[in-house]
Amino acid sequence: MSDFTNASEYEKQFDPRLYLETYFHLGSGSLADDFLRFTLGNFHKIFTEGQVKGTTLIDIGTAPSIYQLLSACEYFQDITVTWYTNRELQELQKWLNKDQGAFDWSSIVKHVWELEGKSGMLEEKENKLRERIKQVLLCDVSKSNPLEPVTLPKADCLISTVCLEAACRNYDSYRTALKNLSTLLKPGGHLLMAGDLGANYYEVGSNKVFSLPVNETFLQKAVNESGYVVNKLVSFGKPEDAGYDTSDYEGFYFIHAQKC
Ligand SMILES: C[S@@+](CC[C@H](N)C(=O)[O-])C[C@H]1O[C@@H](n2cnc3c(N)ncnc32)[C@H](O)[C@@H]1O
Repeated sequence: MSDFTNASEYEKQFDPRLYLETYFHLGSGSLADDFLRFTLGNFHKIFTEGQVKGTTLIDIGTAPSIYQLLSACEYFQDITVTWYTNRELQELQKWLNKDQGAFDWSSIVKHVWELEGKSGMLEEKENKLRERIKQVLLCDVSKSNPLEPVTLPKADCLISTVCLEAACRNYDSYRTALKNLSTLLKPGGHLLMAGDLGANYYEVGSNKVFSLPVNETFLQKAVNESGYVVNKLVSFGKPEDAGYDTSDYEGFYFIHAQKC
């Protein structure tokens, strides 16, 4: 088996709109509620604590989502978002262009507004993120320069959510991807990652989409051995009474590391 997920295979398995409809309505009582509260809370916390700052930020494997950037856009002026398959890019572009058929992120935007103690038009928040997104680039984490053929100045911060577990088919390729990502980052630059623990798959419609099951021990070691220092690794265990069966996940993680 190949070390990395092939784009055309992934595109067949993963319907980006169905993924958003299934997992991104906060308050729907699915596993995504736990994931979103945990992940959005950790992004909010890490930025308000003040250590993670700078001007440039690259989000790896953005499309079709934007939730992971809602806190970051208050702190970083210049955000690059990335995509791997055309279908996901089209979904992201609908939101960027404010198309009528764009996915409705309002339950999630409202939650971040509330974390920030703000009120007002949710659209202001979405517009701020749109305004801070300066580039939309193709990205492949299997490449030594994941943004090839573009070479960007090294960034102050990288974000990646639920991406390496989708992209990497084994633990060696996960480490390779982490090393490839570090070429995009300044020394001392920040890596923020979030995702599922222990998941072999998650359902998107009738398809079980591949996920590499990771645990805290592996993540700590892999990130440390790939040229970063882990400052923080927090996790959330699946509640015992959780009746969610759209994934065999065991919990979620959030990592803050810095490039050596
Ligand atoms: C489950 S989606 C997560 C999307 C988004 N980051 C989120 O949090 O909802 C997995 C992402 O990994 C991306 N991906 C898969 N293989 C990749 C690769 N080789 N390089 C970069 N991204 C890849 C997919 O295109 C997709 O955007």
